[in-house]
Amino acid sequence: MDADGQPVTIRSAGMSGVVVAGLAGYGKTSFLNARFCQLAPCLAVQFVLIDGEGGPDYDDLFTRAWLSAKDDPEQVRDHLARVRELMVARQHAIRAVRGVKNVWHVGPSASWPLVVVVIDEAHTFLNETKGTDAQSKRLDALARETARLVEELIRKGRNVGIQVVLATQKATGDAIPTKIRDNCQVAISFAQRTSEAATAVLGSDITAAPNEHPRRLQDPAYVGVASMVAQGRPGFTLVRTPYVPDVTADAIATATAHLVRDPLHLLTTGEAVADAAPR
Ligand SMILES: Nc1ncnc2c1ncn2[C@@H]1O[C@H](COP(=O)(O)OP(=O)(O)OP(=O)(O)O)[C@@H](O)[C@H]1O
Ligand SMILES: [Mg+2]
Repeated sequence: MDADGQPVTIRSAGMSGVVVAGLAGYGKTSFLNARFCQLAPCLAVQFVLIDGEGGPDYDDLFTRAWLSAKDDPEQVRDHLARVRELMVARQHAIRAVRGVKNVWHVGPSASWPLVVVVIDEAHTFLNETKGTDAQSKRLDALARETARLVEELIRKGRNVGIQVVLATQKATGDAIPTKIRDNCQVAISFAQRTSEAATAVLGSDITAAPNEHPRRLQDPAYVGVASMVAQGRPGFTLVRTPYVPDVTADAIATATAHLVRDPLHLLTTGEAVADAAPR
């Protein structure tokens, strides 16, 4: 909702990347939860849920995920490599199976679901590790590989129905590589402490919008309030994001857990072919 109580929507179709940034405790995870709850009942959506915080936030939501991981960088890299495998397989199959080059022309379906890859506290997996000891080198190589995979998914995933949502406390170039951040079409910022951090997420135009500047949102009254560029509206818009209590989100995940499918399996078993038949 905007400040006048009017609904503000975020386009999902044809989007490959979303960045959600803001200081700790201002509502990033809750916002992602709300989006999860909207999409979870749909069989045409599958999730990859990755939580860099490593806490219990996503425990119950994992039941509705095709792939899930906490702060285990190797497992995260492996999951993203699998999503890339799906992307490549879909790129090869899309014309034969869906009859189009861009899945958004016909829309996702149960057998060709939109794959939403949520990476919360994304900087955890993308940060360089400095140091010359073997462990630092290993972690640094993993972070680079993970960053390459995320970047490729954001750059090429859109047409085959893969979407990456990154949440982070820090969106400056040292935390999220700019190549990744700047390719995301949607950017949402909760409260920020510095102008530099706000500009990193929303672009330099935000400096000319003092009323919608995320620095102004540093107050408990603005938990759940974010600044964004909304479709069809000039400049920046302040929005209050929907809030879904954990118990509701958990109940939705449990009730929809039976909808989990492996999108790669759907592709290889030929189920997708039946789906592409003329309607
Ligand atoms: N839209 C909202 N409306 C009202 N309260 C909210 C809203 N979003 C979040 N909150 C409150 O703020 C708390 C913190 O939100 P959340 O965990 O989403 O923050 P976060 O940005 O993910 O923080 P962190 O960076 O520490 O993970 C929630 O537990 C909830 O009580
Ligand atoms: Mg969080």
